Amino acid sequence: ALDAREVARQATTIAELEEAVRAFEGCALKRTAKNTVFADGVAGAPVMIVGEAPGADEDRLGKPFVGVSGQLMDRMFSAIGMSRERDLYITNILFWRPPGNRTPTLSEQAICLAFTRRHIELAKPKIVVLAGGTAVKAVLNTTEGITRLRGKWTTLMLDDDSEVPALPTFHPAYLLRTPASKRQSWQDLLALDKRLRELGVR
Ligand code: URA
Repeated sequence: ALDAREVARQATTIAELEEAVRAFEGCALKRTAKNTVFADGVAGAPVMIVGEAPGADEDRLGKPFVGVSGQLMDRMFSAIGMSRERDLYITNILFWRPPGNRTPTLSEQAICLAFTRRHIELAKPKIVVLAGGTAVKAVLNTTEGITRLRGKWTTLMLDDDSEVPALPTFHPAYLLRTPASKRQSWQDLLALDKRLRELGVR
């Protein structure tokens, strides 16, 4: 992970970071994945969404959140007038699909997280949305569960001393299994919309 941090720090633009990720050989997941899944949407958009890891569809197409979870996420954001074509920048803490969609190990997470933290610094979003418990635990470096943390604003401190407001929310795959929880996710979206208006970006 130290090595990844050094490589990530040397990238000074998102394009350089993407190139560094694609060339990086320090994560074993890359060997079983078909594609590197870096990001989708608008680099520099006000909202950056960080999910967990590519699934089968994402691995095949090389883009994050293009399967059923991503389709639900797109529908939810479109309900507050936001889309990946215009207002969203989307990535994951993992750039490669874990075999059989297993939960990434802590060391796999730590390696990719070094790139993702740099990714956030370079994209400079107004707000980071953390989708699901794995992304929340990794990015916020906490053991607290998503049920406790969702909907609670926090501040993410980056290595270049910048700070960005972060909002933990349920993962769309969880919402597909537990549709009753969509009520809380809707509250999170409304809170996001409100905060964006306060920041004057909507
Ligand atoms: N789930 C994620 O966390 N990320 C994706 O890109 C797809 C599904």
